[in-house]
Parts: sequence; C-alpha cells; structure tokens
Amino acid sequence: MNEKIYLSSPHMSDEGYEQQYVKEAFDTNWVAPLGPNVTGFENEMASKVGIGYAAALVSGTAAIHMALIAAGVKEGDIVLCQSLTFSATANPIIYQKAIPVFIDSDYETWNMSPKYLEEALTKYPNAKAVLVVHLYGLAADMDKIMSLCKKYNVTLIEDAAESLGTLYKGKYTGTLGDYGIFSFNGNKIITTSGGGMLISNDEERIQKVRFWSTQARDKARHYQHSELRCPLMPVM
Ligand SMILES: Cc1ncc(COP(=O)(O)O)c(C=O)c1O
Repeated sequence: MNEKIYLSSPHMSDEGYEQQYVKEAFDTNWVAPLGPNVTGFENEMASKVGIGYAAALVSGTAAIHMALIAAGVKEGDIVLCQSLTFSATANPIIYQKAIPVFIDSDYETWNMSPKYLEEALTKYPNAKAVLVVHLYGLAADMDKIMSLCKKYNVTLIEDAAESLGTLYKGKYTGTLGDYGIFSFNGNKIITTSGGGMLISNDEERIQKVRFWSTQARDKARHYQHSELRCPLMPVM
C-alpha cells in the first residue's frame, strides 16, 4: 500500500480546506471552543438541515445530556429510551439520576417500536422525555412516535449521532422532535475529531444550553455565576 495515500485522512477534502482552517485558527488565535469558525459551523449546520438554532458542544453525549437538562429531566424522572443503540444514548439519563425505561426496536426500522412506546406511555404517562435513535443512518418511524409524544405531552429528543443527512419524508433526522443531536466523533459521518451539536427550533433553550456549556458565567466584569453549570444535575 502507498503509505502516503494511507496516511492522508479519509476525512480530508481534496482541496485541503481543513488544514487551511486549522492554520487560520492558529493565525487568528481562535484555538477555543468558540469564535467565528464555531459560530459559522453552527449556522451552516442549522441552515443545511433546516432548523432554527444549533449549539456546538464537546460531544454527542454532552448534547444528549444538555437536551435532557433543557427538557427539565431531573432525579427520579422517567425517560423512555431506545434499547438498540450505543451506550452513550442512555448514559446521560443516569448522569441526571433519572430512570431509563428501555423500549425495544421493530423489524422494519431497527429503531424504537411505536407499539412498545405506546405500551410504555400507557404505563408511564408522566414520562419526562422520549429518546429515539436513528441507528446506522436508518430513520425511526417518526410520524407515529411524534404523534404519541404529542398525545402524552412528552418531550421528544432524537439521537441523530449516526444519521446526519438522513431524510425522513423530506426532513432531516434530528429536526423532527423537540431536540436533535449530532456527533462529530472520529467514526461519524463528518468529524471534528471529537464534538457534537444540539439543535432545536427553541431559541431560548439553545441560548441557555450555550450559556451552561460555556461556564455559565453571568454578564459581569468580574467572575459571577448565579446558576450552576449543570442545573438539575444531582450532586454525586
Ligand atoms: C447512537 C449514538 N449516540 C451517541 C453517540 C455519542 O456521541 P459522542 O461519541 O460524540 O459522544 C454515538 C457515537 O459515539 C452514537 O453512535
């Protein structure tokens, strides 16, 4: 094998834009989790998938965690979560000391079965959130899942970590529920090495998540924090 070809990353464009942007980040001293490139990435992603707002975060797992907090999930709450998935989908439920109730998949989509979701919602009508996954680029049965969430007034979070670019009836996965998340881990469709994004049409919630995820520092000249960085998170 030609070593040079092997070493050139499969994630790199032929034009070498990525190296250009890395150089620009150093030249302009924006080696930071914020700045014009991060804001540009958020805006371009939001417009590409057709959603109002996006917040770039350190990982897809952090985006799920923030979605749960934004949805008000706290200790003791029930979250209905797809069982066939990567463990990162469910872990943030435990970080919140909430209770995951796992919902099996169906044969058609490999994702959350609306039939079993309905059974679970009948049993747990006060569930705080539903966490559906679009695994391996396959969309879940969203029409049925969305109408159940509406009926039971429960927040719908879509884990689209593996499905950036998947269309469901003309809409991108991640944009159908109340919140969607993407992962930019090294094994994902596009990568920032490690990274993630929370998307929503709720501007206030996305702004709040950006505030929490950037040290929750008040607008004061001195260091003032009137809120915890991870509100609702139980002290371990
Ligand atoms: C379905 C699913 N959810 C969540 C994650 C977590 O993303 P991250 O590794 O960016 O935290 C991944 C991938 O790692 C995933 O495949």
